[in-house]
Amino acid sequence: MKNSPIGVFDSGLGGLTALKQLRQDLPHEDFIYFGDTARLPYGGKEREELLTLAGTDIALLESFGVKAILIACGTVSSVILPSIQKNYDFPLLGVIESAVAAAAKATKNRKVGIWATEASIRSGAYEQGLREQGVGTTVAIPCPKLVPLIEGGHTDPFDPKVRQAVDEYLEPILKEGCDTLILGCTHFPLLESAIYARAGKKLHLINVGQESARSLKKVLQERELLQESGGSVRYYVSGPKEEFIRMGSRFMKEELEGKVESADAEQFRK
Ligand code: DGL
Repeated sequence: MKNSPIGVFDSGLGGLTALKQLRQDLPHEDFIYFGDTARLPYGGKEREELLTLAGTDIALLESFGVKAILIACGTVSSVILPSIQKNYDFPLLGVIESAVAAAAKATKNRKVGIWATEASIRSGAYEQGLREQGVGTTVAIPCPKLVPLIEGGHTDPFDPKVRQAVDEYLEPILKEGCDTLILGCTHFPLLESAIYARAGKKLHLINVGQESARSLKKVLQERELLQESGGSVRYYVSGPKEEFIRMGSRFMKEELEGKVESADAEQFRK
């Protein structure tokens, strides 16, 4: 079990924000990454469909014999995870808990903004978590324009489409005077430079993928599930590989050409 890989999945590129941190913190672990690019975006989908998608994504990773899975997707973490966690006997973690804890620690004025997908915002998971952490003011903004922009390769701070979308979603956050913003969809840190360019460095950004990676490390340590040697990553996507390779290589600062294979989670649909 100790020497099995760790599974990480998202609808696409977003989960790489968690994988990057995991690679840094756990250099001796082997990873299987799955980006469900053929079925994205997840963020506008209903609960029933998300249940099926998450179930098949998990089954795909289980077929590789993983010892733990990180759901590096805010949408699945907020809408589905609480109802399925009990069905699995290995560590199955999401991004919500660690993100709200990090935001509650970071905010000085107790005003926290949340950017996430429509489904995540509808679930209220981030807001509830923040309330439990004693954060008084929350401003929750669904950001449906961002995932298609990022998956389409638009992350440049000077790209007019990026600027327009970032400005639109920042406006209510800045108006309320939030000092902290949870980037509640794992894709969003790919726009970090664009957000800082518009909001300034004073706004504290919470990268939910990064925070969840840190909490997975803790869980694996506690359960003595860390291995001593290894360090490989195998990438799988369900859709075309080219854009994932191009954007993923840039983000991971590693050439992904030749390392990305195709996988079909649909085969696990019951
Ligand atoms: N990256 C995912 C999230 O964190 C899903 C984005 C999407 O496919 O809409 O919510």
